[in-house]
Amino acid sequence: MTTDNLKYRNNMVQTQQYIADHKDRFLSELIELLRIPSISADSRHKEDMVRTAEHIMADMLKIGLDHVTKFETAGHPIVFAEKIIDKNKPTILVYGHYDVQPPDPLDLWESPPFEPVIKETKIHPKGAIFARGACDDKGQLFMHLKAVEAMLANHELPCNVKFLLEGEEEVGSDNLGDFCNAHKERLQCDVVLVSDTSILANDVPSVTVGLRGLSYVEVEVTGANKDLHSGVYGGAVANPINVLCTLISEMKDDQGRITIPGFYDDVEVLDQDVRDEMNKAPFSLNEYKSALDIDDVMGEEGYTTLERTSIRPTLDVNGIWGGYIGEGAKTVLPSKAFAKISMRLVPHQNSDTITALFKQYFEEKAPESVRVKVTPHHGGAPAVTPTDTPEYKAAYLAMKETFDKDPIPVRSGGSIPIVALFEEVLGVKTVLMGFGLDSDDIHSPNEHFGLFNFFKGIETIPYYYQNYTELKVSGENGH
Ligand code: BES
Ligand code: MN
Ligand code: MN
Repeated sequence: MTTDNLKYRNNMVQTQQYIADHKDRFLSELIELLRIPSISADSRHKEDMVRTAEHIMADMLKIGLDHVTKFETAGHPIVFAEKIIDKNKPTILVYGHYDVQPPDPLDLWESPPFEPVIKETKIHPKGAIFARGACDDKGQLFMHLKAVEAMLANHELPCNVKFLLEGEEEVGSDNLGDFCNAHKERLQCDVVLVSDTSILANDVPSVTVGLRGLSYVEVEVTGANKDLHSGVYGGAVANPINVLCTLISEMKDDQGRITIPGFYDDVEVLDQDVRDEMNKAPFSLNEYKSALDIDDVMGEEGYTTLERTSIRPTLDVNGIWGGYIGEGAKTVLPSKAFAKISMRLVPHQNSDTITALFKQYFEEKAPESVRVKVTPHHGGAPAVTPTDTPEYKAAYLAMKETFDKDPIPVRSGGSIPIVALFEEVLGVKTVLMGFGLDSDDIHSPNEHFGLFNFFKGIETIPYYYQNYTELKVSGENGH
């Protein structure tokens, strides 16, 4: 079957009308959700996490979902809900996260991060909602609730739906793996549907078909047993900040390749024609540079920017500290230096293996004059989704319907570690049908989400349900 000859019947007429009629309310409800500072990393917001979970649960009850449940975990609660209309119909599991990144640095926000405002931008002439979590991921998970509300209210829900929303995605999803293992039956489904990624542009729809994996470590370098006078001891005793900088800079060669032995051993090598195909995606290096105010890009030699941010692994320092950083000058030879380092991984690299290789390299390269400690943080496996499946085709057709353009499959550079786990534990594929833009400043000050994108998402999701159900029931692709 090709997707082109699928006869299209729009069974979502009333649902679409309902969405058009309720846009203002949908938006004001999203604003209320964005007001709660659900910062998972900050223990001072533990109560806000509970409040956010309960706020979402109240909405789930209102729109008519069943078995709305809050599961306590060692960390933040997991929210589950479902609507089973017919056990013989396919089941879509919607995954999303209601936690957000810390808003710091606060002084770079043009409006407070938890007081949403709507402003027009060059890229979002119809307006965008500015708030932490607007795009990643409260705004995007809320599209799913509103799409399901619209289908339920109009008796047009064509299949079963389950919601699995967590509050720990931004801190490594520590408790979700155990939860999935313990609740396999409850989570049983045919496909996982996630909106937590981007499209290429508002007039260039795309479906994400790959995510990078992650290995995240913290390193500590210790020199002398106390801070010293940098005149009295400087030049004779190792400066851990200097040593750390050297160790880090030696981890990449002048071709931009990572020097850790064995780092590339498992990296998937793509044929040139596959790479050529990827590079056909609309992309302007000049626009990319000017949006970031940089005169040039930097990365691994022999690869384009699109390839560097999707099919190639990376190593980046996310934070580095030590010594005196207060006002004025203090002459000191610090005792310790620290850094947080992330490595983005591609198929078929393994996060534990890469962390072990990093640790070994870092310990071996460190001079006798310092002691080093490497502490692994969270990790996650990369994921790629095939495009010749009903799961993917349903997304393709849904976006084609609402954007009136053929969506392009693209691999993204970000990570959602739980995707690989869904496949492992639940045995199902995940479809990444996100509606954000890479320029929406997720994790940065002034995060925003286009109103066009928010409503386009709500409109597209019902078509996913319709297409997926039809493709599954008609038994396409051997199912
Ligand atoms: N939604 C993002 C991941 C993402 C963003 C994928 C844009 C594709 C395009 C997610 O919330 C996230 O930030 N993930 C973290 C990893 C996690 C283990 C902290 C990331 O990618 O840094
Ligand atoms: Mn996210
Ligand atoms: Mn995120």
